[in-house]
This record gives sequence, C-alpha cells and structure tokens, in this order.
Amino acid sequence: MSPDEIWSVQDTFAAVAANSEKVADLFYTRLFEIAPEVRPLFRNDMKAQGMKLMSALTLVVQSLGHLESILPVARKLAIDHVSYGVEARHYPIVGEALIWTLDKGLGKAFTDDVREAWQKAYGLLSAAMTEAAYPGAKS
Ligand code: HEM
Repeated sequence: MSPDEIWSVQDTFAAVAANSEKVADLFYTRLFEIAPEVRPLFRNDMKAQGMKLMSALTLVVQSLGHLESILPVARKLAIDHVSYGVEARHYPIVGEALIWTLDKGLGKAFTDDVREAWQKAYGLLSAAMTEAAYPGAKS
C-alpha cells in the first residue's frame, strides 16, 4: 500500500474508533443480515466480541506501514478461527460487512479512494490469514 493509502485508512479509522461500540454493533448487525448462517458461530458475549474486534482492527490499522510485524499474530488468530467453525469463504463476507459499516459510519468521508485503500488493507490481511489457516484454499 502507498503511504497515502495507509494514511487514509488510519485517518478514517480514527473517526470510527471514536464510536467503537456503535460501529461494532452496526458491523455485526450487518454481518448477520447478509450471512445469517455465521450467527451460531458466535457463542459468547457479543459486546465483548465487538471490543475484541475493534482492538484487533486498531492494531492492524496502526501496523499498516509494517504489516509483516503483525502477520505472525494474524496467522495465529486465523488458525484459532478454524476451531470457531470459520471457513475461508467467510472472509470476503466479513470484508463486505466491514466496508458497508465504514460507508455508513463515515458518510461523505468514505470516498472511492478511501474505499479502495480499505479494500486493499482488508485484502492483504485476509489473504495472510486464509493462507495460514486453509493452505491452498480460495477465499
Ligand atoms: C479478517 C479479520 C478478522 C479479525 C481481525 C478477527 C478478530 C477476532 C478476534 C480478535 C476474536 C477474539 C479471539 C479471542 O477471543 O481470542 C475473534 C473471534 C471470532 N471471530 Fe473473528 N476476526 C476476523 C475474521 C473473522 C471471520 C471471517 C469470521 C467468520 C464469520 C470470524 C468469526 C469469529 C468467531 C465466530 C469468533 C469467536 C466468537 C465467540 O467466541 O463467540 N472472524 N475474531
């Protein structure tokens, strides 16, 4: 990713992170709307889950300039996800719910360039995670 793309993801994430509880709520509501079949995989408290997701995203966004430094953690997280019942094909669905949430949360600030930068960031992360957890699978 270019420095401009990294900056636009970090800048827009700061705006949504200020409302992290609401954003997490919006994200999971959308995810379960577009993929009701993943709802049963979430067995624990959704409020706590929302906070875990937002703190993982914060770490990823802060690390975009040196993504390789967090890839070992991301790969381990992906392997843990296999035991939650997560499949490779769920990653693009989660990406779609994330982009939808950012669009809702950011309104006009979510320009085409910002959207592209986010898609790139999510694509890099999910490629690393799915390669680690489902070697050879397409996501
Ligand atoms: C791509 C980036 C993703 C990130 C950064 C992420 C982050 C996290 C984190 C931090 C946790 C908590 C782990 C723990 O408690 O130790 C978690 C749990 C979980 N994630 Fe993800 N996740 C991602 C993708 C996905 C996808 C694609 C799915 C598919 C539906 C998914 C479903 C789940 C489930 C079912 C749990 C366990 C929930 C529970 O305990 O009730 N995640 N995720």
